[in-house]
Amino acid sequence: MSPRRYAQIVGWGKALPARSMHNREFESLVDTSDEWIRTRTGIVERRVAGEGETTTSLAIAAARQAIAVADIDPRRIDLILVATCTADRLLPGAAPIVQQALGATSSGAVDMNAACAGFMYALVTANGLIASGTHRRILVVGADTLTRWMDWKDRRVSILFGDGAGAVLLEASDLPTGLFASVLRADGSGADLLHVPAGGTACLPTNDTLARGAHYIQMDGPAVFRFAVQIIVDSTREVLDAAHLTVEDVDLFVPHQANRRIIDAAVRTLELPSDRVFINLDRYGNTSAASIPIALTEAIEGGRLHPGDNILMSGFGAGLTWGTALFQWGVPQRVPATMPWQTVVHQGLTERAARALSVARRALAIADRA
Ligand code: ACO
Repeated sequence: MSPRRYAQIVGWGKALPARSMHNREFESLVDTSDEWIRTRTGIVERRVAGEGETTTSLAIAAARQAIAVADIDPRRIDLILVATCTADRLLPGAAPIVQQALGATSSGAVDMNAACAGFMYALVTANGLIASGTHRRILVVGADTLTRWMDWKDRRVSILFGDGAGAVLLEASDLPTGLFASVLRADGSGADLLHVPAGGTACLPTNDTLARGAHYIQMDGPAVFRFAVQIIVDSTREVLDAAHLTVEDVDLFVPHQANRRIIDAAVRTLELPSDRVFINLDRYGNTSAASIPIALTEAIEGGRLHPGDNILMSGFGAGLTWGTALFQWGVPQRVPATMPWQTVVHQGLTERAARALSVARRALAIADRA
């Protein structure tokens, strides 16, 4: 029998649009205030894609970073999964555009649309393909530009969302770390709680749909709020049970960054200490499928993860869909020869150790080429 294979995260990256939109900008658009948005959501600002910035341009930028961190040739990637509900065009999907730009010429490429839960669906799928032995390296990207479907006059929805992309590169490994347990679920009875009514094949865009604003996101916020708190709690308990772990074993919780009050309510019920919860929604708002990989990248770069740490990730969104997983951070973290020592310091090593490691890596790389 061949040995079991595990999927390690060996690369990570993020990309955000240049333009930042502060809560105060909404005060001149709708009847709201910076204070209302902060206290009801935790959001202070979000990034909004400008001209030339698209779902795929952000996805490509995040993916390039992940590939650089992993220090691999893109031609060695076997599959690219792009979690998105806002591909540049209705046809084709975003993934082949990303594949071509990266020069990943030996890779398959496909989109996965589970809205804000898309990254969790793609991560669990990639893990399964690697564990089965059919794929060695899979790039998982979460990218969305939901502000393109925003009615800026709808104060209940427009204040929540931002644009961005995050990416991780998974590689097969014999080390018994990686994704230990996961839950993927859906409840289509909630399809109308969060949707874009027009523009699909059931309701083609017409002058009438445009006039009615049926091409914008429509949402029952309080219903989505209640659903989100419940599924984070239930699916976390299910995943921890399956992994034979308890809340005390969770070193870092990286939730979908939708609303601070959703996260706080779930964390309170689970009795998870707040210093083990990663939050960046104050800066980016809800970036949909991009939110977890962006947060994960910032947690890694901020030195929040150590070998053996248990990371809990939970995403939820339109559909309704949700996915929760427990991922054990692998050892050792790979540091590419080309990575400057400042970045290594950023990832948790002391400056002296990082400089020494950088010198050694470069020497090894030169020796390798010789
Ligand atoms: N500024 C001022 N007042 C507002 C605003 C605003 N931006 N938005 C709503 N209000 C008003 C409402 O009109 C309402 O007034 P009323 O009582 O006079 O009718 C009052 O505030 C309370 O409205 P609620 O909707 O009950 O406010 P709530 O506390 O639930 O907050 C929010 C609304 C922030 C949308 C919250 O329900 C929420 O975050 N829900 C979850 C949404 C979410 O996470 N969606 C993304 C899922 S992921 C995906 O797939 C994309």
